[in-house]
Amino acid sequence: MTTAYTDIQPVAEPGTGLVAKGDPVSRVDGRVKVTGQARYVAEHYTSDMAYGVVVNSTVAKGRITALHLDEARAVPGVLDILSHLNRPRTRKLDLFYKDMTAPAGSPFKPFHGAGVLYSGQPVALVLADTFEAARYAASLVRVDYEKAPHETNLLANVHRIHTPSRLKAGFSPPPKPTGDAEAAFEAAPVKIQADYYSGVEHHNPMEMHASTVIRADDGHLTVYDKTQSSQNSRWVVSQVFGLGKDKVTVKNPFIGGAFGSGLRPQYQLILAVMGALQLKRSVRVVLTRQQMFTFGHRPETLQRVQLAAERDGTLKSVMHRAIAETSRIEDYVEVVVNWSGQLYRCDNVKLDYKLVALDQYTPIDMRAPGAAHGIHALEVAMDELSYALGMDPLALRLKNYAERDAAKDLPYSTKELRACYAQGAERFGWSKRPLAPRSMHEGSELIGWGMATGQWDALQMLAKARAVLHADGRLEVSSAASDIGTGTYTVMSLIAASAMGLPLEQVTFRLGDSTLPFAPIEGGSSHVTTVGSAVEGVCEKLQRKLWKLGRAMPDSPFEIAMFSEVEFVGGSMQLIKMPRTAVPLTAILAAAGQDSIEEKYLMLPNALKQKNFVRATHSAVFCEVRVDEAFGTVRVTRVVSAIAAGRIMSAKTARSQIVGGVVWGISQALHEETRADHALGRFMNHNLSEYHVAVNADIHDIDVIFVDEDDRVVSRLGAKGVGEIGIVGVSAAVCNAIYHATGRRVRSTPMTPDKVMAPG
Ligand code: MOS
Repeated sequence: MTTAYTDIQPVAEPGTGLVAKGDPVSRVDGRVKVTGQARYVAEHYTSDMAYGVVVNSTVAKGRITALHLDEARAVPGVLDILSHLNRPRTRKLDLFYKDMTAPAGSPFKPFHGAGVLYSGQPVALVLADTFEAARYAASLVRVDYEKAPHETNLLANVHRIHTPSRLKAGFSPPPKPTGDAEAAFEAAPVKIQADYYSGVEHHNPMEMHASTVIRADDGHLTVYDKTQSSQNSRWVVSQVFGLGKDKVTVKNPFIGGAFGSGLRPQYQLILAVMGALQLKRSVRVVLTRQQMFTFGHRPETLQRVQLAAERDGTLKSVMHRAIAETSRIEDYVEVVVNWSGQLYRCDNVKLDYKLVALDQYTPIDMRAPGAAHGIHALEVAMDELSYALGMDPLALRLKNYAERDAAKDLPYSTKELRACYAQGAERFGWSKRPLAPRSMHEGSELIGWGMATGQWDALQMLAKARAVLHADGRLEVSSAASDIGTGTYTVMSLIAASAMGLPLEQVTFRLGDSTLPFAPIEGGSSHVTTVGSAVEGVCEKLQRKLWKLGRAMPDSPFEIAMFSEVEFVGGSMQLIKMPRTAVPLTAILAAAGQDSIEEKYLMLPNALKQKNFVRATHSAVFCEVRVDEAFGTVRVTRVVSAIAAGRIMSAKTARSQIVGGVVWGISQALHEETRADHALGRFMNHNLSEYHVAVNADIHDIDVIFVDEDDRVVSRLGAKGVGEIGIVGVSAAVCNAIYHATGRRVRSTPMTPDKVMAPG
């Protein structure tokens, strides 16, 4: 086995210079990405590489009764075909992911037995010397099934609801009712009730899920895996195949998007490792775009919201129930309705969340899971109530503004949502909005303005970081974090550089390797609050070491200086009160005779402090649509998203996160839906020509505002995380704008032309 590749380490362009938190720096990984030096999983190669192609079931439920493999085996270059009949021994395929940072549960187990649990289930892996041979041979595999009746239709199965079991860390079932929501609803003078439907969405990151297993001559496996945590994938491979930590390294230095689809290791990882163990060779398995529709998705969801108010807009009753799909394998849960008891002040609240098990793959978190649906329904319902009241939708929200979280009876650590409303409305020009629908038009298009609120969790997990300062002034910080395209390399480098007062190009942040210090999944918008705080923590330890070494220098100007009296600026340590008394960090190391100094840090959240607060990010989304009624087409021509997410560390990448969230919100509102043929129990539009996503022509003006907020409860940095809040509320704002334009309320997403044109 030979491989000529060494991992590329992104670093800022020469001349970038000194940086401060909040600066709009360009991506440090920009150049290696646009020049193709950054390799994605499917681009890793060795001379002994074999290629695996997955064969998927064509039935939704039943048993495999026979696999006909002769034709496939006869294809030149085919090495082996693995299935449940001959897979290498696995120690613990039936693992329960409770020890990992990936969402817990009992994941699907590939090649576990003859049973078929969903359409598209992997049933065989064809291994060959070339990808072409493997793909051709895979097309020749014939499978006999004994079919069983399947149920994939949520709407036809709502009578089978069950209360979800509580498997996922961070999942809270709906809180107990407060007051008497039913009676208050009956008694109130103004009320609305509406049902909302959200179709299935698939993640569809640019990079397909893939695993490249590079087998060393001594049997050690280095796996490049498409994952949001190298350490999770490493843990799973170790558990499933009984391979110690020293026998497997997982790397994910560059990831072409994931959005939650990589929170759990996916089946191609298990299959690729099986192949490598079987053949004693390196193996690469890349799923096709069609196969990307055979695992994980945002669950189809039905919701009913009932709101009632006094004539002045005071909310008297909030009732919200949701029914979502899960699989037969396990309960997938997300927080859908709880937001409705948090966002507005109301004494009478009743919330309910149920699941229906279908013969589908288990859904998995997708950007702002739960909130993307739950807050959509709540915020469209609030808009409906505003028209019933004859009140401005923003005024209704301000009337019922919640200073505290009523359900938990706790204050927010910070909540600058009022500033989001004020600054967003000002930037958008909301005050000029006529109240009545169908008031604005231009040419053949009706124009509508809508708004919505968003909320998402501000989480912090635990992480470790290591920092090494070299004699030449280079700083290397590392943690097994991930950068799924979000800007982790950039923001962590920036936090370290600003902490140490070093030029950005002198700092590297290593991530994406399971052997690095512990980091959790890149999920839940938590990487900056978690890994970022670990980076700042380890830098502070380095500073203390430098201070001690500096005091010990011969004739030291710092001899009597306390740590609190020095600062790290422009590559030097200096006295805060006498900044001209400065010594370069390189000189401190030289005086101490050290080639490098190193520190490690464990960042533990301050649970005692955090438990007294609800920690959340907020947003106010304003949008303009132009609707051509004759065609049913909707263009979202302007969006202003005002975000309260604590201190912003890296202004450019943070803005990109929000813009990306808004783009997806528009896409969710207008385009995205995976449709099943329930006779076949199968998703039919499993490609990007039939599964529509927003493209450049669908996206117009997006304006992002970060309001001032600084939250030292969530993190020592004051940051809260921006990965998910950007999508929340966007689809509701679009729906509300369509109503304002046309007077038509579209209560299901995506809001496609047929629905916009539908009578009544
Ligand atoms: Mo995310 S849905 O926390 O990857």
